[in-house]
Amino acid sequence: MTIDRGQPAVPLGRAGSMPLVGLGTWQMTGPRCRQAVRYALEVGYRHVDTATMYRNEGEVGRALRDSGVPRGEVFVTTKLPPGGAGRERRILDDSLRALGTDYVDLWLVHWPPRGRALVSTWEQFLATREAGLARAVGVSNYGLGQLDELIAATGQAPQVNQVPWAPALHDPARLAEHRRRGVVLEGYSPFKNTDLGHPVLAEIAAAHGVTPAQVVVRWHVDHQVVVIPKSATPARIAANFDVFGFSLTEEELARVDGLSAGRRR
Ligand SMILES: NC(=O)c1ccc[n+]([C@@H]2O[C@H](COP(=O)([O-])OP(=O)(O)OC[C@H]3O[C@@H](n4cnc5c(N)ncnc54)[C@H](OP(=O)(O)O)[C@@H]3O)[C@@H](O)[C@H]2O)c1
Repeated sequence: MTIDRGQPAVPLGRAGSMPLVGLGTWQMTGPRCRQAVRYALEVGYRHVDTATMYRNEGEVGRALRDSGVPRGEVFVTTKLPPGGAGRERRILDDSLRALGTDYVDLWLVHWPPRGRALVSTWEQFLATREAGLARAVGVSNYGLGQLDELIAATGQAPQVNQVPWAPALHDPARLAEHRRRGVVLEGYSPFKNTDLGHPVLAEIAAAHGVTPAQVVVRWHVDHQVVVIPKSATPARIAANFDVFGFSLTEEELARVDGLSAGRRR
């Protein structure tokens, strides 16, 4: 783990590093989105996740500008929508215009186009990185076989794979396979995939004087898995980021890992 922008981060090749905790923005649009991003930046977030498909890049960009936080201090991710294959560069130009920036820190293929790895899209992504429009490039919702297809065809692994992740989805073998390929695993929907009332989370939360949601975020940090909880509620936005004053013991980590028992084959 490295420290970047004053917070725990994972190294990301030439792109520098990626803060481990970011703000998710799916299902937030308009002023609600703008206010949430502004508030997140105020309480210390330096990583925001958006996507062309979320129709909120304009609001995210405005919040970034209004915040007064220098562009270089915030890690911004956006994503190529499904169906964008063949129009990659035009879509990225639109994203950059909406975000009001001349580069994104990370550009992801949101889903395998038409369910396939699609090397031609990946080649376009590598070209945009070369052109400096995206500091890092990666994918989302790709299986290991699809990652391997891209690596075999271009010799370049996606720097990140953004996939659903949560204690109940914990899969150490899959995490290790990503690391073996040099791919950072970024988790999404940490809460939607979690029973926040689970007694194990409640017990560990009580031991640290935090909430079960904070235990879930901290569990990601302790595994060095990037996590991007979404909230439109100021108190939750702040709490989800307030996870750097405690850490889980080995035993607690193992108990949270155990919430996946029975979910996997
Ligand atoms: N690549 C992909 O295909 C993909 C797919 C899904 C998501 N994502 C990304 O991942 C981000 C996170 O995933 P997500 O939005 O699906 O779900 P999530 O972050 O797991 O959950 C969001 C929900 O949890 C609630 N919440 C937030 N903080 C809470 C807390 N401390 N206690 C209790 N409830 C809390 C939010 O409510 P309030 O907002 O009302 O507070 C909202 O209803 C997305 O926003 C998006 O950026 C990517």
